[in-house]
Amino acid sequence: MTIVKRLLVAAVGALALAAPALAAGGDQHHPEEHTWSFEGPFGTFDRAAVRRGFQVYQNVCAACHSMKLLSIRNLGEKNGPFRVMPDPEHEGEVIEYTNPNDNPYLRAIAANYIIVDGPDSAGEMFERTGRPSDRFPSPFANEQQARASNGGAYPPDFSVIVKARHQGPEYIRSLLLGYGHEVPHDVHVAPGQYYNPYFPGGKLAMPPQLREGIVDYEGDIEATPEQMAHDVVAFLSWASDPKMEERKQLGLMVMIYLFIFAILMWFAYRAVWANVEH
Ligand code: HEC
Repeated sequence: MTIVKRLLVAAVGALALAAPALAAGGDQHHPEEHTWSFEGPFGTFDRAAVRRGFQVYQNVCAACHSMKLLSIRNLGEKNGPFRVMPDPEHEGEVIEYTNPNDNPYLRAIAANYIIVDGPDSAGEMFERTGRPSDRFPSPFANEQQARASNGGAYPPDFSVIVKARHQGPEYIRSLLLGYGHEVPHDVHVAPGQYYNPYFPGGKLAMPPQLREGIVDYEGDIEATPEQMAHDVVAFLSWASDPKMEERKQLGLMVMIYLFIFAILMWFAYRAVWANVEH
């Protein structure tokens, strides 16, 4: 076979493989564009949005989705959302809690969780209240239990969900706000499933989550579905990449260094060849 023929056969084969996926997707919508503070080479996380998003995660999503790779103290690590907080003793001032384990905001968050620890000296497991050094406890004991509670579908872990999906932030935001569209007549939605054109295949086992008033934000910001979706995605983006800001800063320093180095090399080159005929 000539190369051209082989390529043609390969292309037809690839199309045939892709066809069922395309057909099952119906008219899957592209995620909606949205502006995020953390985009671009200089983007940073909006700490207040990340904190509100954590509140949404804690009050809504954590009932089904685990976040196994994160510890509570990660929220207070360098550049974390609870690192620099209002000082409870001096109104109007902020304080940087350099030790996340002593951060009163994180201790209060941890105290909401019951952790199964052990075994103790008698070999028994026991329950205690959470500490900042604990990982976020999972809502279900294992995958089977999670599936049994969710009509057979598994709510994916959130530790790196934004990184694990194409156009993660836009996709998750669109998905959360993407319920309520009219179901096209060629899509059959079984009981326990919901139509959502942003999900591959168009239907998923997660009911709509972001109702008006499901969380109560402090201050003036209203917890509309759009606001909650923006905030929870900001939080999940931080959780997927807590070192993003350090990485970007380092990249910038490297660029500055290379720039200065290039200028120095230019002068060195001129000096070395100054007295040579060429
Ligand atoms: C009542 C349980 C439940 C709650 C609460 C819940 N989810 Fe889900 N979620 C699920 C299930 C089940 C799936 C898997 C759906 C499927 O595969 O059909 C899922 C899937 C997802 C997906 C994955 C889509 C993909 O591409 O795999 C995202 C993102 C998501 N949920 C975000 C959220 C967010 C954000 C919240 C909180 C605002 C939340 N969920 C609250 C049950 C839940």
